[in-house]
Amino acid sequence: MGLIATLIEQPSTLVAMTVHIGANKGDIAETILLPGDPLRAKWVAENMLEGAVQYNSVRNMFGYTGTYKGNRVSVQGTGMGIPSISIYVTELFKDFDVQTAIRIGTCGGLGKTQLRDVIIGMAASTDSGTNRRATGGLDFAPIANYDLLKAAVDAAAAHGVTYHVGGIASMDLFYDDSNALDVLEAHGVLGVEMEASGLYTIAAKYGRRALAICTVSDMIRTHEKTSSEERETGFKAMVEVALEAAFA
Ligand code: HPA
Repeated sequence: MGLIATLIEQPSTLVAMTVHIGANKGDIAETILLPGDPLRAKWVAENMLEGAVQYNSVRNMFGYTGTYKGNRVSVQGTGMGIPSISIYVTELFKDFDVQTAIRIGTCGGLGKTQLRDVIIGMAASTDSGTNRRATGGLDFAPIANYDLLKAAVDAAAAHGVTYHVGGIASMDLFYDDSNALDVLEAHGVLGVEMEASGLYTIAAKYGRRALAICTVSDMIRTHEKTSSEERETGFKAMVEVALEAAFA
């Protein structure tokens, strides 16, 4: 697959566009995939894209641009939590004119979900204060872009992936001893992760298309976890769904 040309020494013509992304305008495609883990971004570039070139290494939050079936696409690590993803997606939407952003992550499974299932996030609740700050204290409802959501559902069905469509929740605490997850489960939330709600709200602010797709990496109730091999296989299927949805 794609050969990675790593920009270890940044060319002298490089104008770092933003504080956190050391790339030139135009280095980043209009369509981007967003894993939390920068090494997952590297894996996507190496295994799923053609001719990928690294455009960012600031803070080791790697970003790459290549093609998928002839379509230009980037993949950028976001780090964990709404504060971290908010930095990257704000810069991507505002300064790099990204139009379509799909988070590809993992989540803890609730309700009838099972390990390795894919959850396509229709809406993303949160306990984070950032969304209220962004909307002047309102309880804004962060939702996915419908066209992307529908395309992801179609792609998941075509790939024979076991998927669920519904609410997810982006929580500030990974280690949470409160009853918050019971309340969320009682309200039909399918999975908990830490980023989607911030992505949806910032995409709404800039009028861009966003979606979050997550594979269930651990079950909240039973503490069952996927092996690293299962995580890689599941991740590949999810990336295919995301890429097909992005260019449907
Ligand atoms: N909680 C929050 N984020 C997660 C989890 C979880 O259990 N699993 C994967 N991402």
